[in-house]
Amino acid sequence: MRVMIDGRPLDPHQATISVFDWGLLRGDGIFEAVRSYRGRLFQLEAHLDRLERSAALMHLELPRRDDVAAWAAAVAADGGDCVVRIVVTRGGSEADVAAPSRVVVLWEPTADLPDRLAVRPTAAPWHSGGIPWELMGAKTLSYAPNMSAWRKARLEGYDDALLITRDGFVLEGPTFTICWVTDGVLETPSLDLGILASITRTVTLQEAEKLGVPVREGRYTLDRVLGADEVFALSTVKEIKPVGRVGARDFETGPVTKELSDAFAARVAAEIG
Ligand SMILES: Cc1ncc(COP(=O)(O)O)c(C=O)c1O
Repeated sequence: MRVMIDGRPLDPHQATISVFDWGLLRGDGIFEAVRSYRGRLFQLEAHLDRLERSAALMHLELPRRDDVAAWAAAVAADGGDCVVRIVVTRGGSEADVAAPSRVVVLWEPTADLPDRLAVRPTAAPWHSGGIPWELMGAKTLSYAPNMSAWRKARLEGYDDALLITRDGFVLEGPTFTICWVTDGVLETPSLDLGILASITRTVTLQEAEKLGVPVREGRYTLDRVLGADEVFALSTVKEIKPVGRVGARDFETGPVTKELSDAFAARVAAEIG
């Protein structure tokens, strides 16, 4: 089955939620995208943990964790290699603005990505850049600024954007984490910048530690990335994806990126079985 709403399997063409739902009208809701390999979900528990954190910050009630897990597993089982998206809307309908939230679980094909990404450094004045606020760390449906940065990058011939704070600190991509390697040290923006606590980032940093690759998390300006030996992007959808261009600077895919990609693939194989 490709779509479930509130646990009910539905024909994808018949699967609908109200046009009055605040998830649609205001981007008021939360989501997760979970990778399925051969019909089994990778890091599902970490995704459910983050979904619960997002829900708590947004004052959204979730169904039982076991139910959400079972719905995601059912969609994955039929979907093979795919992405399973879990979307929780605020709810609302014409008759009753307080109608309950809806939980949509749906199948998506894996993305068709280039071997190496070209990313466009882009100012992100909407981002808190680490100034604490009530939704820091929540994965909400309000992605319009991120998608606009992505679209602008595409229009200018890049694959994606690399977001930079008002103070000039490197944040993340619109839908990915950024890492780079200088003199064998892996550097990546720290979570206290208010970037998403990426699950691929957690797994990759664990693998780096096992491989003895030193990791530094902090606040870095763009020149630090431009001066690196290798750069790569991380996300559930992109896995570990080499970055071949940042602005005008080209990069080769380096040995640390390759080593970590192999380790990541081995980790997936070990967890998926
Ligand atoms: C803003 C942002 N940063 C990073 C990521 C990567 O997170 P994950 O590795 O959990 O997919 C995402 C994923 O959607 C994202 O939206």
